[in-house]
Amino acid sequence: MVPTPQEFDVVIIGGGPAGYAAALRGGLAGLNIAVVEKDKVGGTCLHRGCIPAKEFLETATVYRTVVGAKEFGIAVDPPSVEFAQSQARKQKVVDQLWKGLQGLMKKRRVTTFIGTGSLGPNRVVTVDDGTELVGRHVVLASGSAPRTIPGFEVDGRLVMTSDEVLSLERIPSSAVVIGGGAIGCEFASMLSDLGCQVTVLEALPKILPGCDSDVADVVLRSFKKRGITVRTGVAVTGHTPAADGRSTTVAFGDGEEISVETVVVSVGRRPLSDHLDLKGTGVVVDRRGFVEVDEYMRTGESGVFAAGDLVNTPQLAHVGFAEAVVIIDQILGDHVVPVDYSKVPWCIYCQPEVAFAGLSEQAARDAGYDVVSKKDPYGGNGRALIVGEPEGLVKVICEKQPDGRAGRILGVHMVGPWVTEQLGQGYLSVNWEATPDEVAHYIQPHPTLSETFGETVLALTGRGLHVG
Ligand code: NAI
Repeated sequence: MVPTPQEFDVVIIGGGPAGYAAALRGGLAGLNIAVVEKDKVGGTCLHRGCIPAKEFLETATVYRTVVGAKEFGIAVDPPSVEFAQSQARKQKVVDQLWKGLQGLMKKRRVTTFIGTGSLGPNRVVTVDDGTELVGRHVVLASGSAPRTIPGFEVDGRLVMTSDEVLSLERIPSSAVVIGGGAIGCEFASMLSDLGCQVTVLEALPKILPGCDSDVADVVLRSFKKRGITVRTGVAVTGHTPAADGRSTTVAFGDGEEISVETVVVSVGRRPLSDHLDLKGTGVVVDRRGFVEVDEYMRTGESGVFAAGDLVNTPQLAHVGFAEAVVIIDQILGDHVVPVDYSKVPWCIYCQPEVAFAGLSEQAARDAGYDVVSKKDPYGGNGRALIVGEPEGLVKVICEKQPDGRAGRILGVHMVGPWVTEQLGQGYLSVNWEATPDEVAHYIQPHPTLSETFGETVLALTGRGLHVG
């Protein structure tokens, strides 16, 4: 006898940020939810991405702070890195969050099936152990995996992706980081601060493509000052492992070579749609493997949605959360506002940190805006000097009004101390479509790092206290 499929209001394939956010929101609203997860709920973000990466970046910050303690009159012995302890602490943080998430899902009565799920017609999801689930609605949220490049097969020893770097047992003495995007810059910064000699090889003319160039330039200057070599506009052609297998020589550019202990490949992430099957459904997968959706996250199959890194939107955990909300609220029949992808917050946790929302100056010009912008460096900010991190700036980009004054705020781009925690005001200003006149009215507490944002906006009204 063929077993009857178990029925749910929503069956979700993938328990990462997009999948678990959909499960938690739906569960809270009383929907009967199933999540199919092949590994651990929490996904890349919790186990192989955001959380462990930021934990190690914090390790680097602690190290830098101790090294710089003498300037504050605190005498310390020269510190050393015990990376096994750093790994153990990272794992403790990850495990605590994982336990919390599992508890929360249980509390919201979400049923979790461990296995790989695939989708067939009539919203039937099959787990690879043969279990069949049928959903009134289905959410595809199977995420992404690191992209690799030909000639750089990942062996976890000489060639790694973010997956392997986050499980390192010790910091290598030297590394080439291929790709100077978000992951490349975070790893370059962390590895260098912990004593590794790092070279970044980026194919495009600049690192951090997509960031405002004033912001990327600050990161570049800081990297160079700290001994990180950054080569842009170079292609890598392959690598040759040494006979003893302990190092490898990377070939790049016009016949150049560099020998290192480790190669980190961080050239983007690819959607994981291969195992979803989808035969007999109207779900469309594009050439690059992304599941196609409309602004309401609907696929071509009625009742089937997709979200997170599986769809071609910014690959950010918080974007996955927002997309999950769009889906569940629709299922609940609530009023839904699609995600405005041009204005989502971006945070990169290298040293110095980068945070932005909205258009960069170049992107605003390319979009046809007549713009007016101001920037204010952290060097004049009292709190930045107190904490010993005066490197960086805030830049605000506005639409120029016919009278030449600054109108609607189009973008807020920051680089410097704790900017990932400071972006909130900028994010709201951009999304509220506020003008500098409106925002400058509000007081910034003194002394705080956020005064630099306040000062930049004030300068755009033509009445800056410190910035002209
Ligand atoms: P990315 O797309 O941000 O950057 C990849 C970089 O590699 C680009 O600059 C690209 O030009 C370069 N590249 C590509 N092929 C190359 C080649 N053969 N040789 C040299 N350079 C090459 O991808 P990344 O950094 O791997 O991150 C993946 C995704 O994860 C991104 O979408 C990112 O937004 C997200 N992410 C976000 C973080 C954050 O917000 N803090 C942190 C980590 C990842």
